[in-house]
Amino acid sequence: VKFPTAAVAARYVAKEIDKLVRARNAAGKPTVLGLATGSTPVGLYRELIRMHKEEGLDLSRVVTFNLDEYYPMPKESQHSYFRWMHETLFGHVNIKWENIHIPDGTLKPEEVDAACAEYEEKIKSFGGIDIQILGIGRTGHIAFNEPGSPQNSRTRLVTLDSITRRDAADGFFGEKNVPHHALTMGVSSILEARRIFLMAFGEHKAGIVYKALEQAPTEVISASFLQDHKDATIVLDEAAAAEL
Ligand code: GLP
Repeated sequence: VKFPTAAVAARYVAKEIDKLVRARNAAGKPTVLGLATGSTPVGLYRELIRMHKEEGLDLSRVVTFNLDEYYPMPKESQHSYFRWMHETLFGHVNIKWENIHIPDGTLKPEEVDAACAEYEEKIKSFGGIDIQILGIGRTGHIAFNEPGSPQNSRTRLVTLDSITRRDAADGFFGEKNVPHHALTMGVSSILEARRIFLMAFGEHKAGIVYKALEQAPTEVISASFLQDHKDATIVLDEAAAAEL
C-alpha cells in the first residue's frame, strides 16, 4: 500500500492495531504485538500514544515481543533497544510491564541458547503474534536477519553485517562502538505472525524495497521471504515505492 507521506502511513497501521486491540479488549482477551525499533516505526508509536491519550485506547491487555536487541547490551544503556522502547512507547501508555518482552542483551554467553528457545516458547504461550511490525534494513534484513539468514531460522545470536553497523554508527558515536552481535527473532519466528506490516519510508529504502518485493525470495534479502506470507502488507511512502 502506497501513502503520500510516512505520517499518513503510520496512521493507517496505528488504526489497524487500534481496531484489533479494541475488539480483543471487548472480548476480554489479550492482543499480542510484535514490535520493531529504528526510525521507521516512530510515527506509528507516536500515533498509538496519541490514541491512548486522546481516544481512550487501552493497552492494559496488550502483550508485546520485540524483534531484537544488540548483544551484549546493558538495559540502561542509551543504545539499548530496551531503553529506546521505554522512552519511545512503553513509558507513555498503560501497557503492563510484565507484558513487555525484549531479547535480553545482558545474558551470559552460556545462557543465550536456552533464553532464545524460551523467548519462542513465551510467544507460543500467548497464542502467537497477532500483528507484527517490521522495518527493513539496507541489507534487506528484517529484525537482524542479515544476508544468509535461512527461511527456517529461529530466535538466536547473530553477527551484524558491516553495512548495518555503519548505518547504526551515528547513534553510537562511531562505527567502532557498534556491537558486532545481536539477539534476533528468526525469519521463521517472524513469519509465524498472523498479520505483518512491513513499513519503509524514504528514497534510501527504494532500492531494497524493490529487491525484496519484485525479485525471487532469497536468503540474501530476508525481507523477500514475506512474499510467501498469507497476510503481509508492505506500507510505503511515495519515495520508498519509487522503483516498484
Ligand atoms: C535495525 C533494526 C531493524 C530495523 C532497521 C531499519 O537494523 N534491527 O529492525 O528495521 O534497523 O532501521 P530504520 O527504521 O531506522 O531505517
